[in-house]
Amino acid sequence: MPTQELTFSKKYNLKHALKYHDKHRNTLSRRLSNWREQAIAEKALKLAGQPATVLDLPCGTGRFWALLARKKDRTILAADNSDAMLSVAREVMPPAVLERVQTFQSSAFDIQLANDSVDHVFCMRLLHHITRPEDRLAILSEFYRVARHSVAVSLWVDGNYKSLRRRKLEARRTHKTYQNRIVLQRRIVEREFSDAGFAIAGHYDFLKFYAMWRLYVLKKQL
Ligand SMILES: C[S@@+](CC[C@H](N)C(=O)[O-])C[C@H]1O[C@@H](n2cnc3c(N)ncnc32)[C@H](O)[C@@H]1O
Repeated sequence: MPTQELTFSKKYNLKHALKYHDKHRNTLSRRLSNWREQAIAEKALKLAGQPATVLDLPCGTGRFWALLARKKDRTILAADNSDAMLSVAREVMPPAVLERVQTFQSSAFDIQLANDSVDHVFCMRLLHHITRPEDRLAILSEFYRVARHSVAVSLWVDGNYKSLRRRKLEARRTHKTYQNRIVLQRRIVEREFSDAGFAIAGHYDFLKFYAMWRLYVLKKQL
């Protein structure tokens, strides 16, 4: 499959990568939010059966590596479209964590791995940037190809206070510029998972009825 270059993907240069790394640590509310995200990610890995081989894609600056490395015998592969994000990750992560992770540059549209090469694909904060259904299907199909068993994907869904507020704000926006992030209807995204060959094993909400973030655990239907 040819690699597709999305507009949002271009922003992850070195300056942005350093900013991204700081973003999740620099205020109390960000640290709390990161803590909650790590907690639901841990639950998702448990629901996925504590997979032995995990691909973290996009890994960004390695925010979830310490969590993934908690299972001592886990093989961790980590990839990102942006070389800058990967090099910041290699700079900032503690050596004990780094030595557990094999990193490589890869687009989610064209993952540089053979079929069925990992147990689980762990995908945090990518799909809410993927606004076109055909792009989401292409990415989910790549996950289906490289994962033997399961996938965890986080994205923004409707049915909560924040999504209602966002809809109102967007309706008021006069300048319709490029849309960088999207709130998906649960009904639609769940159909997309099924179209890509996955069954939903479960989901975890960041803050039920309030926040838009939801983390789904999907199992491959064979
Ligand atoms: C919001 S960050 C999330 C990073 C990490 N999962 C986290 O939660 O900290 C989005 C990441 O997606 C990466 N990215 C953008 N387009 C991509 C693509 N087509 N394939 C793989 N990664 C991509 C960016 O480089 C960036 O690291």
